[in-house]
Amino acid sequence: MSSKYGILAYPAGHSLSPAVHNAAFKAAGVDAEYEVCDVKPEDLEVFMNEMKGGAYDGLSVSSPHKEAVIDFMDNISPDAYDIRAVNTVVLKKGKLIGSNTDWVGALEALKRSGVESLVGKKVVILGAGGAARAIAYGLLKERAHVVVLNRTMDKAQKLANDLSGLFKGNASGSLRFGAIEGIGNFEPDILIQATSIWTTSGTEAQILPSGYLTGLAREGVRPLVMDIVYKPRITPLLFAAEDADCDVITGDKMLLYQAVAQFETWTGKKATKKVVEAMEVALKEGLK
Ligand code: ATR
Repeated sequence: MSSKYGILAYPAGHSLSPAVHNAAFKAAGVDAEYEVCDVKPEDLEVFMNEMKGGAYDGLSVSSPHKEAVIDFMDNISPDAYDIRAVNTVVLKKGKLIGSNTDWVGALEALKRSGVESLVGKKVVILGAGGAARAIAYGLLKERAHVVVLNRTMDKAQKLANDLSGLFKGNASGSLRFGAIEGIGNFEPDILIQATSIWTTSGTEAQILPSGYLTGLAREGVRPLVMDIVYKPRITPLLFAAEDADCDVITGDKMLLYQAVAQFETWTGKKATKKVVEAMEVALKEGLK
């Protein structure tokens, strides 16, 4: 019998996930289909009960449901528990199991762009929402020195309080927080834009003071700059980064590799090169 998967979000209509996952299933010869599950927050309980009854074998979970679905899980993985967000659900023997592949996607995007080790690397994350939380988790796990800067300080402080005690045994990792205005005090090896600014305020908005990256470049400091937003592919920050001769990672990479990890969670199979390439092609087509 064909398996059934879906993207649980609201609104979910513009999601690229169906194209990406259906391409993966096809390339892997897995008999499965993946569809859009446009579910309003007030309908979540009914939907999750249907899922538990067997309506779906697995789900990708996106905004605004990543935290709310936790209440319906029979089991959640330690990473999703610590991040306090589930983006992947699988139905196993009638039980709903939640996990998080966002941090895996972010780390993989960094590694594939040539970052061999994150141990001791100075990383600034802009934002303190769900995405920033997952990325900070992954980086701490890899023993980086992480600074979370956010527009609203309280939220950055909460993130730091929640995550800082997690990897106590990791001698070289650390987590600090502050306001985005304080960016001038930092000379990171890696800068990650994890706010939703380009969506909430448009691409005319500025996340950092103009001249920050060119100022660093004049001192010979050129951070690797990653933006998790994939539309537009070259965001204003990445544009400024290229202008300052920094290497950049576009947001489609994190999207791709979190999806690869979901494929592996659901099917129990390693995503082969052929499968990953099929997903990449589908993503590229969807972003045209
Ligand atoms: P996500 O799950 O995508 O991370 P979220 O949890 O709603 O979404 O978090 C959005 C993040 O983007 C927050 O860090 C938010 O900052 P605040 O905590 O100050 O709200 C940030 N953000 C959204 N619009 C922004 C803007 N125009 N300028 C700066 N930060 C912005």
